[in-house]
Amino acid sequence: MRIGLLTSGGDCPGLNAVIRSSVLHGIKSYGDEFVGFKGGWRGVIEGDYIDLPRQSVRGLSREGGTILGTSRTHPYNHPHGGPENIAKQLKRHDIDAVIAIGGEGTLAGAKRLADDGIPVVGVPKTIDNDLKATDYTFGFDTAISIATDAMDRLRTTGESHHRCMVAEVMGRHVGWIALHSGMAAGAHAILIPEHRISMDQVCEWVEQVHSRGRSPLVVVAEGFIPEDAEEALAGKGEESDGRPRLGGIGEWVTHQIEAKTGIESRHTTLGHIQRGGNPTGYDRVLATRFGIRALDLVHEQAWGHMAALRGTEIVKVDLTEALDGLKSVPAERYDEAQILFGR
Ligand code: F6P
Repeated sequence: MRIGLLTSGGDCPGLNAVIRSSVLHGIKSYGDEFVGFKGGWRGVIEGDYIDLPRQSVRGLSREGGTILGTSRTHPYNHPHGGPENIAKQLKRHDIDAVIAIGGEGTLAGAKRLADDGIPVVGVPKTIDNDLKATDYTFGFDTAISIATDAMDRLRTTGESHHRCMVAEVMGRHVGWIALHSGMAAGAHAILIPEHRISMDQVCEWVEQVHSRGRSPLVVVAEGFIPEDAEEALAGKGEESDGRPRLGGIGEWVTHQIEAKTGIESRHTTLGHIQRGGNPTGYDRVLATRFGIRALDLVHEQAWGHMAALRGTEIVKVDLTEALDGLKSVPAERYDEAQILFGR
């Protein structure tokens, strides 16, 4: 078969490992040929691609980013998009199937295209780990590792100055990165969108830690909104999906802590550092296994399905499952983290 790969949506460490394993598995096991569409669905729509021979994927699993580039082009919203145009492009370039590697938006587009007759399978990716159909996504472990390292560093400088240190991490509308990195770094407070608490409560915790001679370390997920802060945070605007605009909450929380407790405080927003650089070993392995399974799905003609992790197994799931709302942090996972807070 001649198979096209694309990476779409925000980049994520591990994308290149998926590309490498699909290509190697396809060439070795099935005699397939590969092309890589440049810039996500845009490359499909415009017939913009590169050949992916075996040597093009050499050493790729350790590299961050994506060699194909990525974009947020939606296959149905582009003036030359839609299933008929895409089918024509695939035919013109002799491409038998597409492997689309992406998050919720990409997988939704892939599902719709599959329903409209395009031979496409998916691979889930997001550092946010918010896809319901898979236990973990690659990129998440790398983000945790970077955020944990950053907090370890914040702790030493915080302790030297006896300051409260606040780290804002990504995660979009869920708190997985904050929960895991906060647990790993031994943060004194983990603030996530799924568990709203008041700033008074946060300040009380910070004061308790400070009064014991420690330097409070707080991790706040970018989607967190304190219980009592809706009005103060109003006017930040909205995302395209209608939810409050993300980012900046770490700075706001820090100012509140300093103003209400008098404890000198500093904030750090980790931002895209969490998505950059080389994937961890865990993410390389997970991404590699996803790529292998996705290639098998192509040969099973399992259009509209994707590879997913359940326990330790890589399984086939219908893309509709991936689109069934966000996987948020359950209350019991938050409670578990609370047990450890050294306050
Ligand atoms: O979904 C991954 C993610 O990194 C989120 O954690 C974050 O909110 C968003 O993407 C940032 O998007 P962009 O790279 O477009 O600023």
